[in-house]
Amino acid sequence: MMMGRTPRPDDIHASMAPDHLTERDYAQLAEIVERHAGIKMPVGKRLMVEGRLRRRARALGLPSLNAYCHYLFGQGGLDDEFQQVVDAITTNKTDFFREPIHFERLVDTIIPDLLDSTGAGRSRPLDVWSAACSSGPEPYTLAMVLSDVAAERPGFRFSIGASDISHDILQAAARAVYPEQMIEPVPQDMRRRYLLRSRDQERPTVRICPELRQQVTFRDFNLLTKGSPWQRPMDVIFCRNVLIYFSPETQQAVLANLCDSLRSGGYLLVGHSESLNNLDLPVTPVGPAMYRRK
Ligand SMILES: C[S@@+](CC[C@H](N)C(=O)[O-])C[C@H]1O[C@@H](n2cnc3c(N)ncnc32)[C@H](O)[C@@H]1O
Repeated sequence: MMMGRTPRPDDIHASMAPDHLTERDYAQLAEIVERHAGIKMPVGKRLMVEGRLRRRARALGLPSLNAYCHYLFGQGGLDDEFQQVVDAITTNKTDFFREPIHFERLVDTIIPDLLDSTGAGRSRPLDVWSAACSSGPEPYTLAMVLSDVAAERPGFRFSIGASDISHDILQAAARAVYPEQMIEPVPQDMRRRYLLRSRDQERPTVRICPELRQQVTFRDFNLLTKGSPWQRPMDVIFCRNVLIYFSPETQQAVLANLCDSLRSGGYLLVGHSESLNNLDLPVTPVGPAMYRRK
């Protein structure tokens, strides 16, 4: 979209100013980030944003935030840099089996219902999308749970799509290597089946086994984009713990678009702290942070 340029000496010159974002720069950055990524940057986040952008400025060899903004808002700066800003300011906290009731409901309610009502999983694969997947624990939890279902129900087929706006985080998701303490919520029998342990005693890590990694397709996708990164409509969409960063208007637009990508009778799951109460969407509540497409 936008043309880029590399930092110039006059950017460095601007570094004599104190190392904080000015109110004007912060407001301009917040406006751009919300317009392109939907993410709100209230003034309370300023220190966090400054810390993250300082690291980015250092990586570019720029000595201050002032110099960084000079570069960023200069002609073409955003072309090269917008993705890096997104990578720097997104919050990627995630866990395996986060809000575990959703994975329980998937197995005991959603799959049996969709098998009966639409044949999803039997006559065609059950299509599941982890939208805003962060570094991968959510789609890999889905892969473990659905692989267990497939082991118990011969012929059961599924496909998992996972997407996020952050390129850094998608690379981490594809690598699928996690510090060992992160797998605490994964049941022991699943660890044996689906996780590989590193031999490094000092920094023990686990990697998702190749069979599971192959079951997840990752895509770079901004939820503000109309449509979907997938060829087929979905049976189940997990869109959890990302709506909290959006305004009600953005939530409405993002969720209406996701509903367009959901088959009639399909399920939408959001984070437990995210409410759809005041939104106008073609769904009915059917469980905790769980909705069914009309
Ligand atoms: C807190 S994580 C949630 C991860 C996971 N869904 C979970 O519940 O554990 C939020 C993720 O949303 C992503 N995100 C933020 N804005 C986005 C947008 N406009 N489009 C797609 N992903 C976005 C961030 O990059 C981040 O990885």
